[in-house]
Amino acid sequence: MLPGVVHVYRVLCVISCILPQLSAEDTYMTRALQLMSETPLIDGHNDLPWQLRKQFNNQLNKVDLNTINNTHTNIPKIKEGRLGAQFWSAYVPCDSQYKDAVRQTLEQIDVVHRMCHKYPETFMFATSSQDIREAFRQNKTASLIGVEGGHSLDSSLGTLRVMYHLGVRYLTLTHSCNTPWADNWLVDTGSEVSEHDGLSPFGKQLVKEMNRLGMLIDLAHVTVKVMNQVLNMSTAPVIFSHSSAYAVCPHKRNVPDDILKKVSEKKGIVMVNFYNDYVTCSKTATLSDVADHFDHIKKVAGAHIIGFGGDYDGVTRVPEGLEDVSKVPALVAELLKRNWTDVEVKAALGDNLLRVLEQVEMVRDSLNNTLPDDVPIPYDEVKNPCRTSYGYPDPADNAGAGHSLSLLVVVFTLLVMII
Ligand SMILES: *[C@@H]1O[C@H](CO)[C@@H](O)[C@H](O)[C@H]1NC(C)=O
Ligand SMILES: *[C@@H]1O[C@H](CO)[C@@H](O)[C@H](O)[C@H]1NC(C)=O
Ligand SMILES: *[C@@H]1O[C@H](CO)[C@@H](O)[C@H](O)[C@H]1NC(C)=O
Ligand SMILES: *[C@@H]1O[C@H](CO)[C@@H](O)[C@H](O)[C@H]1NC(C)=O
Ligand SMILES: [Zn+2]
Repeated sequence: MLPGVVHVYRVLCVISCILPQLSAEDTYMTRALQLMSETPLIDGHNDLPWQLRKQFNNQLNKVDLNTINNTHTNIPKIKEGRLGAQFWSAYVPCDSQYKDAVRQTLEQIDVVHRMCHKYPETFMFATSSQDIREAFRQNKTASLIGVEGGHSLDSSLGTLRVMYHLGVRYLTLTHSCNTPWADNWLVDTGSEVSEHDGLSPFGKQLVKEMNRLGMLIDLAHVTVKVMNQVLNMSTAPVIFSHSSAYAVCPHKRNVPDDILKKVSEKKGIVMVNFYNDYVTCSKTATLSDVADHFDHIKKVAGAHIIGFGGDYDGVTRVPEGLEDVSKVPALVAELLKRNWTDVEVKAALGDNLLRVLEQVEMVRDSLNNTLPDDVPIPYDEVKNPCRTSYGYPDPADNAGAGHSLSLLVVVFTLLVMII
């Protein structure tokens, strides 16, 4: 063949082979954006507030979220990614437990409030399913708060309730440390010991109180035992705000198949994490690897339990093709390419989370005659040297009471013997 002919052949091949493929990709993207204009994309976990702490010590005046470029999340990326609603994470590290975790968590809640106030065209502070729908109508990102880790409560139901009043709508029961009332996922790796065989009695009180308040219970980061206990006892559906499928990548932060099935029975949701280490169990991953988790969860438990939980700005490695929050529409297009129906895609985008939140709100409303649980955790169950014991019986009195009780028993026994 003459070189010229080869060239013409190549050009023809480009036209006949590549162009139709390109336009097919375009079609998926167009349909993805169409669906995202009908149903809000609701993401379960984003650590931008933690970046604000780490990089600026929460001095929001020194940040411009329109131009910041060393985070996965900024306003142009949010717009491009069609982020309809976000649970912003109020996260503080585990080493603040027994120190200033509660204050630091309050400061993370404060910075989310201030962020919404500073950029009212972009964010709308939100605390309900209705708020999410309203923000979407106004083309704004509904901004909810999730507290990541029970260490943020210092084992206090009063603190849980106050955080609810401040707008917190989920609590991840643990981060990567045990609390005085729940075991974390590191117990399942063998690197930490179980202290409660799951949840302690106080941990169970807390779960019930969350049902009563209308706060989502987040099972990301807990042991499989805790997952089972909560799935068994919660009267409302539960969430995994940022966890992927264990069968696809056997990392203990991921969700095993039998739990996926129980989440399905409970009408809950598993919001898929994009962190490479949880996606492929290695340092590298692609968008297609993430889609494999979506496919697997759909196959095992149904599209009605899937959601998005990117973990952006909380992780150091994200997949090729999902480099920041602007890229999510490409994942939606990939699901369409994999023959997901419009209904399934919309379920994953936001319908599932809205259903879960509405159900949690209904359970709350049905319990509005139930009194708040005001029974505190037993003092000696919290090994926090910074805690005072005000309100708890004086340990000296306790010892005295125990002493006189045993004296009474001795006297009584003696009396019985004499008689
Ligand atoms: C990122 O932001 C910094 C600080 O505002 C700026 O100096 C830099 O030029 C930006 N880089 C890019 C690639 O836009
Ligand atoms: C939201 O955006 C859509 C599409 O860009 C536009 O048609 C609509 O008017 C906007 N709504 C509001 C309340 O700004
Ligand atoms: C589930 O809870 C019931 C009581 O509410 C209890 O009898 C049962 O043992 C629990 N099952 C598991 C697997 O924890
Ligand atoms: C999607 O469906 C089409 C038509 O039924 C089929 O040819 C194709 O193999 C399917 N693709 C996947 C990824 O299942
Ligand atoms: Zn996390």
